[in-house]
Amino acid sequence: MSNLNLTDKLETLVEHRDRLALVTTKSLFEDDSDRFGQFSRRLGNVLFDFSKNKVDRLAFEALVQTAVDLDVEEKRDRMFAGEVINVTEGRAVLHTALRRPAEGSVLAGGADVMPQVRQVLESLKSFSESVRSGDYTVTGGPVTDVVNIGIGGSDLGPRMVTHALRPYHDGPRLHFVSNVDGADLSDTVKQLSPETTLFIVASKSFTTLETMTNAHSARSWLESKVGDSAHQHFVALSTNLEATREFGIPDERTFGFWDWVGGRCSVWSAIGLSVMMAIGSSRFEEFLSGAYEADEHFRTAPLGENIPAIMALLGVWHRNVCACRTYAILPYDNRMQDFPGWLQQLDMESNGKSVATDGKPVVLDTAPVVFGEPGTNGQHAFYQLIHQGTEIVPCDFLVAARGHEATLDYHHRLLASNCFAQSEALMTGRSLEDADGDPHRVFEGDRPSNTFLYEKLDPGTLGMLMALYEHKIFVQGALWNINSFDQWGVELGKELAYSIEGMIDAGDPSQANNGSTRGLLEAFQALRSD
Ligand code: F6P
Repeated sequence: MSNLNLTDKLETLVEHRDRLALVTTKSLFEDDSDRFGQFSRRLGNVLFDFSKNKVDRLAFEALVQTAVDLDVEEKRDRMFAGEVINVTEGRAVLHTALRRPAEGSVLAGGADVMPQVRQVLESLKSFSESVRSGDYTVTGGPVTDVVNIGIGGSDLGPRMVTHALRPYHDGPRLHFVSNVDGADLSDTVKQLSPETTLFIVASKSFTTLETMTNAHSARSWLESKVGDSAHQHFVALSTNLEATREFGIPDERTFGFWDWVGGRCSVWSAIGLSVMMAIGSSRFEEFLSGAYEADEHFRTAPLGENIPAIMALLGVWHRNVCACRTYAILPYDNRMQDFPGWLQQLDMESNGKSVATDGKPVVLDTAPVVFGEPGTNGQHAFYQLIHQGTEIVPCDFLVAARGHEATLDYHHRLLASNCFAQSEALMTGRSLEDADGDPHRVFEGDRPSNTFLYEKLDPGTLGMLMALYEHKIFVQGALWNINSFDQWGVELGKELAYSIEGMIDAGDPSQANNGSTRGLLEAFQALRSD
């Protein structure tokens, strides 16, 4: 284990940045006819092109050496070996075990977790197939609609995957309720027939305020419609069996997982039940296999060939060497509309940290602000800033070679052309001369991007892409020496919300902790009494 940290490596990386300041990214292609070959990697049918970043072979070697010197491989191996790397919560991090094929064992705390993983997967498969086939019935017969009630990792993953894989959807209709805002539940149940609706209460802790509030209200709604048989309409996904029983969901309709599955990487566990209901268990297994392929690649490929490691190193290059504060995720796939939201939680909840694993303040910036929108919609909203704003925004583009709409292939060709055009425009820019001397039409260029290109967004490809991003976030956490697997930053607001709600209930804002909150509570009370 080395005692080096990223600060020790920064000087060398900054020297490369300053050396490259004298050239353009476009000229790097002129100087190296094999630049695309050198700066792209393939995994299965996924091509990762990172040649449009202003990094040459020497800078790339220095980045890879940084990962070597900061023990990324050793840290990775400790994760796969089930060591307690989530030190602040005393947990192993083993979501990779969830996508392993049947053979082999994975140890956590000396015990093989795979028998339980397989057993839960088998029960999920048989339950979801019985719902899909109509064998499992509720008050009004077979289930027509499934509502996943969850939030954060218990919502964003299943919601994103279900929407992204809509062409494979052949099960009951799926709905997602996450927000404690009653509008979410109310707008959803308006579309439903209570007699044939199944609610999945998805919560690792089974204590999350939003989820439990929505679950209780959903149950009251059902009870008012179907009376005592309401209980048949509930399924739980949780690690907290005591709480699921207390809520009244029997163990045979409760699917468990374990503390070594982090919320934001839980779609591979029982939390993925809604996905399985939508696309079926064999397609869900293809989704797991795609992720497993990415796991094996991450676990075994040398760092210079390792896509997640390269993604992470480029992220660190942009964040710490070039001081970029934001990062855009731009899927050219309308069904990936929830991908940026999923990645926001993965990146910002994992690495939005200012304390290192040793408890000391970090000295370098950590996670960027992540945002995004499917192309081409984003082009007509915020791309202006990405092209000509004062902020450099590194971008990830994602696009399939083929869409699912065979009869609308012309649309897909336009979509892909726009994707390739945007990354080219960002890199090459337009000079004052080419803009006929009009400074408003000048594009600086040299704006970095990566592109993922794959044949088609099928379950395996989506699983692979998601796992690559998960591992990228892991490597960045390792380079920044932070614990990517806790989320203490969400606690304080939760605690305060409970105490403020007590004041609202009691109609007594006088106990508020400060003048602003007191003033707001008084005004809130006054507006509600009018
Ligand atoms: O946002 C905090 C968080 O703990 C996330 O990490 C998690 O995904 C989410 O809340 C939901 O938690 P649970 O699954 O326990 O309801």
